[in-house]
Parts: sequence; C-alpha cells; structure tokens
Amino acid sequence: MATNIILLGPPGAGKGTQAARLQALRGMIQLSTGDMLRAAVAAGTPVGLKAKAVMARGELVSDAIVSALIGERLDDAAGAGAIFDGFPRTRHQAEALEILLAERGRKLDHVIELAVDEEALVRRIIGRFTCAHCGAPYHDEYKPTKRPGVCDICGSTEFKRRPDDNEQTVRTRMAEYRAKTEPILPIYEEKGLLRRVDGMAPVETVAAQIDGILDGTQ
Ligand code: AP5
Repeated sequence: MATNIILLGPPGAGKGTQAARLQALRGMIQLSTGDMLRAAVAAGTPVGLKAKAVMARGELVSDAIVSALIGERLDDAAGAGAIFDGFPRTRHQAEALEILLAERGRKLDHVIELAVDEEALVRRIIGRFTCAHCGAPYHDEYKPTKRPGVCDICGSTEFKRRPDDNEQTVRTRMAEYRAKTEPILPIYEEKGLLRRVDGMAPVETVAAQIDGILDGTQ
C-alpha cells in the first residue's frame, strides 16, 4: 500500500539524504521541489527563468509554481507512495498538497521533522559538493574523496557545488524556514501526523528512526 510522507527541516537537515535512501530501499518516489527547480533552471524553462534569481537569494519560489510542479509529478508516486522533500514550505502549499492528495483519494501518513542545530547545518551545507559526472555526494570535512580531487565512484576529476550553498544565502534560507515553514508544523501536530527525529544523529541512526516510524515500531 502507498505510504505518503513529508520530510520537513531547515536547509541541510538531511531531507534529501534520507529521501534518496527511502527511494532506493522502499521504491517510494522522492518528490523534491528543490531538485525540480534546479532542473528547470538548468534547462532554461520559463519556470527556471523565474526561479533562478529567487533561489540564488535563498528566498522561496512562488507557491503557485512549486504546487504545480508537485501536481505534475504526483501520479508518478501512486505505487509505493511519495516522499515530499522540501514541500510544503508554507501554509498555502500545505493546503495545496491536501487538495492534490484528496483529488487522488490519497492521504498523508506521516510528517517527519528533522530537528537540528542551525550552526552545525551551516558547516554541513557550505562544505558539501558532488561529482559532476555521477552525482556522488561528498563533504570537505565529513566525507572528502579518498584521493584528493578524484571521485571515489567514477574517477571523474570534475565536481560541482550548488550556487546557493554560500553562507549568506544559507542564512537567508534558514530565516525563510523559521518565518514561513515552521508555522505549518502545528497544523500537522493537531492532525496527529507530526513525528520528530534527531537530525543531528549519524545518517544511519536518523534512517533507523525513520524506518521505525514507517514500519510502526516507534
Ligand atoms: P532545496 O533544494 O529543498 O534545499 P533546502 O531545503 O535548503 O535543503 P537542502 O537540499 O540544502 O538540504 P537537505 O535537508 O536536503 O540536506 P541534505 O540531505 O542535502 O531548496 C533550494 C531552494 O529551492 C530554496 O531555497 C527555494 O528557493 C527553492 N524551493 C525549493 N522548494 C521550494 C518550495 N516548496 N517552495 C518555495 N521554494 C522552494 O544534507 C546536507 C549535507 O549534510 C550533505 O552533505 C549530507 O551528506 C550531510 N548530512 C545529511 N544528513 C547528515 C547527518 N545525519 N549527519 C551528518 N551529515 C549529514
């Protein structure tokens, strides 16, 4: 049966890391509005042209654009279910998601908040980079390549960093989270859907806690 979950947390909390794992292990579909927007920017679509400068500043793209992106992809996740990664981020988006799911006779099962320390997150984000060829993730401090400048997986010597992963933009992204996204947590708390996980724990520990929630053992 399909399980639909939201992963919530500030930038760098580990939403993408955990969503990718759930997709690989459970066949659920990761619906990341950040990834969809970056793909639109890279492809130079009308949505990408609108989103590019907003994302570079660390501000939120319009509710209408991101809700439409999710609506276009939601049916892909009809099988094992969806992991909403970085969506919803505002009250308006939360309402839009509820309607999109109800129209398809689906519902949310869990909303998982990754609780984290902001200063540690700034270090996490500023240090991260990926292989430009195979996308393998690395971090300057926590997960450097084994041979300097060479991807462990594919041997490529080209790497990339997100343009919004600089300290000033990260601070704006965190302020946006506090101002616009944190206020939607009580909506899910009232519905009995909200679960908190310690996002500062090692990746495997966070994963085990999320598995426990999905499997009903915690
Ligand atoms: P988006 O791409 O969603 O970025 P974000 O929310 O800022 O989150 P990140 O992708 O930076 O972090 P994450 O929580 O996924 O952490 P990750 O797993 O990568 O959004 C980008 C922009 O798009 C927004 O600023 C906005 O402009 C726009 N946008 C997107 N969605 C929108 C929406 N719904 N509405 C409006 N605008 C929207 O992990 C980070 C690092 O930490 C990695 O290096 C990872 O390896 C490491 N790590 C992960 N977990 C752990 C752990 N437990 N311990 C140690 N290290 C860890």
